[in-house]
Amino acid sequence: MDIYIDTANLDEIKRAADLGVLDGVTTNPSLVAREGVDFHTRLEEICQIVSGPVSAEVVSTEHDPMVAEAETLTPIAANIVVKLPCIEEGLRACKTLSDRGTKINMTLCFQPLQALMAAKAGAFLISPFIGRMDDVAFEGMEIVQQIRTIYDNYGFSTKILVASIRHPMHLSQAALIGADVATAPFKVIQQVMKHPLTDVGLQKFLADWDKAHAAMPQLAGSR
Ligand code: G3P
Repeated sequence: MDIYIDTANLDEIKRAADLGVLDGVTTNPSLVAREGVDFHTRLEEICQIVSGPVSAEVVSTEHDPMVAEAETLTPIAANIVVKLPCIEEGLRACKTLSDRGTKINMTLCFQPLQALMAAKAGAFLISPFIGRMDDVAFEGMEIVQQIRTIYDNYGFSTKILVASIRHPMHLSQAALIGADVATAPFKVIQQVMKHPLTDVGLQKFLADWDKAHAAMPQLAGSR
């Protein structure tokens, strides 16, 4: 499963990229607004750090302006993926742009038929928003399983990108279902490598090592 970071914050992107396991970046208008920077400049900066797909969302809501906006985003870098909302006009724009070779991420997906239509329109990615479904007492991961089944039934190549991830359990559930990609905030990416038994075990290994070397300083490998 590919791991993307869900942020427009450059420091977080650099730190995640430095881990060596970052495959891409997703942004959305809220995340970009939070940074208070020029959208296109920030996309250029992100694409200098990450060579994998970088999703950039349009803010138009009708076909023609969506397509025009997309055409200002794609020249920024070869790895820009245009993000469009799962609405009728977004679906039409997805078809137009996909036919022209632009990679599309259909976002704000909350039910599997939106994902079926996005795949038929040629989307590169579909983004079900898991955490926001959990927020309204609906098991968000169910939709990921349903989309997986539909895509496998018909051999669609659209990648399932699990979005709105809130904690590491979402990541492990996404991987177990067979999602293609998960995008997570930096905090969740960091949490994945934390385990109290790892910390306790490491402390014990090092303490035992130091004790043995204190008793026998002639041994190689003192810390
Ligand atoms: O970027 C899309 C999605 O991941 C947003 O997540 O936490 O705002 O529901 P959230």
